[in-house]
Amino acid sequence: MVLIPMLSEATWESAVVYQVYWRSFLDGNGDGVGDLKGLRSKVAYLSSLGVDAIWLNPTYPSPQGDHGYDVSDYFDVDPIFGTLDELRAAIHDFHEEGIKVLLDIVPNHVSSQHPWFKAAIEGDEDGPEESRFIIRSGSGPKGASPPNDWKSIFGGPAWSRFPQKTADTQRWYLHMFDECQPDLNWENQEVHERFERILEHWYEIGVDGFRIDVAHGLYKAPGFPNMETFDGNWSACWDQPKVHEVYRSWRRISDRYEPRRFLIGEIHTSSRDRLLDYIGKDQLDAAFDFSFLHQPWSAEGFMERIAENLQLAEMSGSTPVWTLSNHDETRHWTRYCTKGKGEPTGELDCGTRYRSLISLMASLPGRIFLYNGEELGLPQAEVPDDSRQDPAFFRQPPDSDYKGRDGCRVPLPWESERDNAGFSTTAPWLPMPVGWHRYSVDLQDEDPESMLNYYRGQIEMRKAEDWMGNGEISDLSSNGGVLSFVKSSGGLKVMVNLNFNDRPVPMDTGEVLFRSSKSSLVERDLGPGEIAFLILHEGV
Ligand code: GLC
Repeated sequence: MVLIPMLSEATWESAVVYQVYWRSFLDGNGDGVGDLKGLRSKVAYLSSLGVDAIWLNPTYPSPQGDHGYDVSDYFDVDPIFGTLDELRAAIHDFHEEGIKVLLDIVPNHVSSQHPWFKAAIEGDEDGPEESRFIIRSGSGPKGASPPNDWKSIFGGPAWSRFPQKTADTQRWYLHMFDECQPDLNWENQEVHERFERILEHWYEIGVDGFRIDVAHGLYKAPGFPNMETFDGNWSACWDQPKVHEVYRSWRRISDRYEPRRFLIGEIHTSSRDRLLDYIGKDQLDAAFDFSFLHQPWSAEGFMERIAENLQLAEMSGSTPVWTLSNHDETRHWTRYCTKGKGEPTGELDCGTRYRSLISLMASLPGRIFLYNGEELGLPQAEVPDDSRQDPAFFRQPPDSDYKGRDGCRVPLPWESERDNAGFSTTAPWLPMPVGWHRYSVDLQDEDPESMLNYYRGQIEMRKAEDWMGNGEISDLSSNGGVLSFVKSSGGLKVMVNLNFNDRPVPMDTGEVLFRSSKSSLVERDLGPGEIAFLILHEGV
C-alpha cells in the first residue's frame, strides 16, 4: 500500500520544497554520480532541515546527454540512479517522514535514443513513426539549409539533418535544445495519450506531482515562421495557445487522485501576464517566478517582483512560489554576495545578505523552492573547461563568455575529512572544487552559527509562527533602500524590513523579534543587508 504524506492543505500551501539535483547529491555506490542509495541515506538530513517535499530532477533512463533531460524511457529509472523498486522504496521512506516527492516530466522532447526516434529513423518517409516528431524539408537548393531560422536555446541552429531515406531534398528534425533532444510533435494525438499514461503510471506508484520541464514549449506556431518575420507578440516556437488543452487534461488526471496531485511549470513567456493563462484551477497549480530569481539586489526591484507575484497568485487563485536558485542558474550566493568575479564577500558566517534572503522567502506567503546546497551557502564553483559536461557549453560560439551550467551542479560536500568531501569514494562526475570541504555538512552541523543551522532555524520558525507562512501580507513598500511589509495573523502584526543599503539605517517602530545579523535585539540600527522582524504593538 502506498502511504500518502499527512500534510494538511495549509502546510502544503506554505511548503518548503527542496530540489535534489541527484547526480550531485550523494553517491552511495562509488561510481562518482549521486544515486538513490545516497539519497535514501539522507532522508533524516532533509527531515532535519524541515522540508515538506522534494523535487527530483529527471530520474528516467537517459543517455544523460543533457543530464536526464533527454529521456529514453519515461516509465522506468536510470540505472545510474537506481531501480524502479528502489525509487518506490525511497518514496515510501520520504512519505513516512511526511515529505512529498515530485518528479520532473519532460514533454517537449525525448532522447534521440528513445525507441520512438529510432523507429522514426527506421520507418517510412512521412510514415506514422516520423509523425511523432517535427521533420521538415530544408530550404535552399536540395534543402541544404535548415527549414527556418530558429535557434536552439543552447546555441546554434535548432535543426539537425534527419537521415535521408528516399527524397533528394535534405530533411531536418527540430530540437529546441541539444541535437540529442528531438522535439515531439504535439499535433499528434498519440503523443498526448502517451504522456497521460506516463502521469498515471507515476501517480499510481505514489508520486505527489510533477515539475513540468519547458512547460511553455510543446506546440510550435503553424507554418513554422521565421522568428524575424513572425508578426505577433509571442515567440514562434513557444507559448502557443493549444498548450493549455494539454494542461487541462493533465489537471483532470491529477485531480482524480487522492490527495490531488501537484503540477508546477517551468514557464518562460514574452510577458509576465501570459503566465496567467497557465495557472489556476483548471491547469497548473503554480509556475516558477523567474523574474524574482533574476532580480538584482535592489529594494525597489524586490518590492516590484513581490507585488507582481502576489498579484499573479491572487488573479489566478493560486499560491505564489519563491525561488532564488536552481540547476540552470548561477548560485545566488555568487549573484548577491560577491564583490567581483568569484570573490566571496566573506566566510560562511558573514553572509548577512544571503541569510536575509532566506528569511525574506520564509516570511512571504506561499511555497519556497530551495536548491540543494544553498542551505550550505555554496557559491558558484569554478569548473575547468576540460571538465565541463553541460551541452550548453559545447554549443556556444568560440567568442562566447557563457560557460554553461556546471558551476551550480558540482557535488555537495558532506564530510570535511573524507576524500571528495564525502560525496563519493571515487572521482566525482564534476570535480570537487578546491576548498569545498569547508562547506561540509558535518562542520556546519556542529556550528550553531553555520548557514545550515540558520536555514534550519528559519524553516522551523516559519512552521512555528503562523504569520510567516500563512499570514496576510499588507503595506508592501520600498523607502530609502529598505524593503518593508507587514504580516498579520490572529491578533499579531509583524513588520519585515530588509536593508538593501551598504550602510545601517535606523528602525523607528516595532519590537525586534528576530534579525539576520548577530547584533542584539535591542540595537535599533538595521545593518547593511540585514533583515529584521518587528512586532507591531497596538497603537503603534
Ligand atoms: C529546462 C531544464 C534544463 C534543461 C532544459 C531542456 O530548462 O531546467 O536543465 O536543459 O529544460 O530539457
